[in-house]
Amino acid sequence: MKVAVLTGGGDCPGLNAVIRAIVRRATAHGFEMMGLRDGWKGLLEDNHFRLTRETTSGILHRGGTILGTSRVNPFKVENGLEKVKRAIERNGIHAVIAIGGEGTLSAATRMSEEGLRIVGVPKTIDNDLNGTEFTFGFDTAVAIATEAVDRLHSTAESHKRVIVCEVMGRHVGWIATYAGIAGGADVILVPEIPADLERVAEHIQRRHAGGRTFSIVVVAEGTRIKLAADQNEQLVTSGALDEAGRPRLGGVGNIVAHEIERRTGFETRVSVLGHIQRGGAPTAHDRVLATRYGVHACDMVARGEFGKMAALKGNEIISVDLSAATKELKKVPKEFFEVAQVFFG
Ligand code: F6P
Repeated sequence: MKVAVLTGGGDCPGLNAVIRAIVRRATAHGFEMMGLRDGWKGLLEDNHFRLTRETTSGILHRGGTILGTSRVNPFKVENGLEKVKRAIERNGIHAVIAIGGEGTLSAATRMSEEGLRIVGVPKTIDNDLNGTEFTFGFDTAVAIATEAVDRLHSTAESHKRVIVCEVMGRHVGWIATYAGIAGGADVILVPEIPADLERVAEHIQRRHAGGRTFSIVVVAEGTRIKLAADQNEQLVTSGALDEAGRPRLGGVGNIVAHEIERRTGFETRVSVLGHIQRGGAPTAHDRVLATRYGVHACDMVARGEFGKMAALKGNEIISVDLSAATKELKKVPKEFFEVAQVFFG
């Protein structure tokens, strides 16, 4: 049986660990494995290569993806679905394992509704997929962001500054909340709660009036801000669109820093972590999670569990419906913010 694997959307630490685990497990099931290049594009353009134990050895700890990735969505390409179906038939592919985030798995959901045999694996540093408690890549991004917050603390303290650290996460605040709590941030701004910059400024002023000489603010890129009372809350984007046609986020940190300095008079600097959060070696936690997902996904193909995604529930890997995973974004529950707030001030 021939099984194809693809990685779609933003790259993320742990992708290679999943690929390696799938290929290793495939031997036990007697599957022939095929790697599709650059996500769904590999099927649209018939661009693939054979995955073997040899071509996937030594990749467990490597960041990025040996398959390449893209945000190309076959449903946004003329006759995309037909092209995908023809490529699957022509190459004798029995099933496709799609490793991806919301964009890739939404396409996978629609394809499985069209009768294609698809299994999903939840990947993203944003941790915004429903149906699973954690996606792989998130733990690594949080570790990198936490280290950055620790480092920013030394400079903020030495120079008596306010430092704003902008982290990724798209429309949810998982990375900001985790890195903010882990790094002991004094303010955490997330998309789940629109930012009131007046309150942020007052809070920082109160802290400094109480004897603190510096403050650390962690802001998620997708945080909506309101600059004036008569304005609506706004998402900050670069104005450009990504490959999938979605607005590229980023820049909120600069606005927050400018507004804090203007309202408080304290010197305020900004650090935008950007793609540093997505690159490099996965943490041990992500390697284990990715490996467990990969083995489970391969077993799902063997069991004929299509239209489903490998997921983490408690400490167990289970299979959930792909449609449940992509219906809506998984937001950070209120309890996390309540814990973070205990340490503000
Ligand atoms: O989804 C992962 C992610 O890193 C988001 O946090 C971020 O908004 C986006 O991808 C950036 O995408 P790109 O690398 O295409 O700019």
